[in-house]
Amino acid sequence: MTNAKVLRVGIVGCGNIAGPYARDIAAKPELQLVALTDLDPSRAEALAAEHGGRAVPTIEDVIAESDLVVNLTFQGTHYEVTKRCLEAGRHVHSEKPLALTSAEAHELVDLANAKGVRLGGSPFTLMGEGQQTAWKALREGAVGTLRAVHAEVDWGWIESWHPAPLPFYDVGPLFDVGVYPLSILTAMFGPARRVYSYGRVLKPDRMTKSGDRFEATAPDWQVTVLELESGPVIRLTTSFYVGQQAKNHAAVEFHGDRGSLWLGHSFRFDAPVEVAELGDGKQYVAVPHVRPPGGAIDWGRAVADMADAISTDRPHRATGEQAAHIVDILVAAMTSVREGRPVDVRSSFPAPSPMPWAE
Ligand SMILES: NC(=O)c1ccc[n+]([C@@H]2O[C@H](COP(=O)([O-])OP(=O)(O)OC[C@H]3O[C@@H](n4cnc5c(N)ncnc54)[C@H](O)[C@@H]3O)[C@@H](O)[C@H]2O)c1
Repeated sequence: MTNAKVLRVGIVGCGNIAGPYARDIAAKPELQLVALTDLDPSRAEALAAEHGGRAVPTIEDVIAESDLVVNLTFQGTHYEVTKRCLEAGRHVHSEKPLALTSAEAHELVDLANAKGVRLGGSPFTLMGEGQQTAWKALREGAVGTLRAVHAEVDWGWIESWHPAPLPFYDVGPLFDVGVYPLSILTAMFGPARRVYSYGRVLKPDRMTKSGDRFEATAPDWQVTVLELESGPVIRLTTSFYVGQQAKNHAAVEFHGDRGSLWLGHSFRFDAPVEVAELGDGKQYVAVPHVRPPGGAIDWGRAVADMADAISTDRPHRATGEQAAHIVDILVAAMTSVREGRPVDVRSSFPAPSPMPWAE
């Protein structure tokens, strides 16, 4: 990332995850945090006081001061906020999901292309050291021909730690955390073509930390099977009921003709990677990281990648096209749950390249 020019970055939405984003953006010399806004102005002011930039009253003020806007608003407002920023000709990185419908997600991709600006979407944790180590080992044949992937994201009761859990229960764990393994796996192996899913609400009666009762409406436990165009099948389990006490709660296991590779976590950059040869009694052996991870997650990594991509005129890695494909998978899965049938997915996206330090 040595050639990048300094890019002015604004943040819309200064809630729970905005602190880590602001901290990691402010730490990068190629990024300058300039403007922050939130429906609750005190949140933007607190974030600016801690990490720099200026708290401003509206999205228009953020747009006026920034080259690139990071959308950290609620899941249900990503579309409208991203659209406003793209229409104003700003590059955007949006937290996940890109939008709640396929039509809106692809409209944003088309809008970014028409405006000649970059659109990026989370999750970007494929850019982590653990994930890049796993990908490199798989490319180099660690498991031979890959045929099956088993992925879990058991994320537990969101209301036990998040002060405002309702938007998470409106979308459910597949939309909120299933997107982590989905983005990693589709980046590595290409688009999904068919989706089967079963989901139910196991625990509808929920309570916030402040004692308000609410009802979980989206399935809080869901199993999704995907057929990828390139061949492998994926079984993904996502839950806001089963929690992080579960062994393997966020792991991804890749099974091939020669053995298996275990990626201990799909979010954490310091995720352990282990490989086992095929056969009874074979033990998993640690694979050293391609470079030392700096910490759990660098929340500024996708924004820095986009800045470098703009400056060096190359594709950025966490693209809007891929984020829109993920939305298509999510929507197909919910249709499958409702209608009890497999649902086809047709969209594609450009394959991202590995990080330069993991090629
Ligand atoms: N909390 C996490 O650990 C985490 C981790 C990764 C990703 N995310 C994603 O980040 C996004 C935000 O999550 P969060 O936990 O920070 O939520 P949050 O509810 O804590 O914060 C969202 C903030 O956005 C503000 N907001 C909403 N609409 C707005 C608008 N139109 N204009 C200005 N501000 C607006 C809200 O006032 C709120 O302060 C979600 O998409 C979530 O999926 C969260």
